[in-house]
Amino acid sequence: MGKSLFTLSDLPAEEIVSIIDRAMMFCQGIDIPNFSDKIACNLFFEPSTRTQYSFNVAEVRLGMRVISFNPAASSLNKAESFYDTVKTFDSFGPDAIVIRHSENEYYKQLEGYINAAILNGGDGTGNHPTQSLLDLMTIKQEFGHFEGLKCVIAGDISHSRVAHTDYEVMRRLGMEVVTAGPDFFLEDSLKQEDFDSAVKTSDIVMMLRVQHERHASHMAMTAEEYHRAYGLTLEREKTMKDKAIIMHPAPVNRGVELADSLMECPRARIFKQMSNGVFVRMAVLERGVL
Ligand code: CP
Repeated sequence: MGKSLFTLSDLPAEEIVSIIDRAMMFCQGIDIPNFSDKIACNLFFEPSTRTQYSFNVAEVRLGMRVISFNPAASSLNKAESFYDTVKTFDSFGPDAIVIRHSENEYYKQLEGYINAAILNGGDGTGNHPTQSLLDLMTIKQEFGHFEGLKCVIAGDISHSRVAHTDYEVMRRLGMEVVTAGPDFFLEDSLKQEDFDSAVKTSDIVMMLRVQHERHASHMAMTAEEYHRAYGLTLEREKTMKDKAIIMHPAPVNRGVELADSLMECPRARIFKQMSNGVFVRMAVLERGVL
């Protein structure tokens, strides 16, 4: 069986750091393995641009052969179950299966029944391990370390698998992590701070997308009201520390959680995060199929 990656909370801090270090080597073009005898299946049951296609690019860079999946044209439409769909792909004999699914911890029903390495591309509001790895890689490139850095994660915390994954792993690596945003998006179990004060004192300001598609009801405020109250406006950006950076897992609602012109401002690392996604996914694939 391949080495699966379901959550980062399963991994010791040393292993997380070693995956990031490996990704940083790949970023410099060093020691890239050739997996031309290996096959990856990308099973995205939920929409994705960055995770799906950066896994695809990572697989291509490793020389792997790649099978993509179109749920709309599959036998899911004949009531085939999620489990039987994954088990079907596994029976074709791939080395890795990348999965995104809307159900939290979908992987629990697969554990022990699938031969390929299962690499979690996001489960519901639970985990997004490769997003957190690319976030950490971006932070390490910027600051050279994690210990003692402060990160505010702001916005739609309750629907965000990125927030849940980053909060746990960043604290484990010695960072101070606080959350901010409207009460209806926050969680009591996560440390909270006033947004304006957190923006002024953080090294990393991580904004989250308002996930309209996961809301049971519409927000009781307009996009403009949300931006003024909880978004990273041009005025708030001016209060950030000199060396502080802006991150966002994307896709971004420009002008809602983030002022449009901040998306590519000198502090923004949003497209850098996306580039790093290819290298951390190469490292996770290598760990999975070796
Ligand atoms: N950040 C992220 O997971 O983006 P996608 O939903 O486009 O994969």
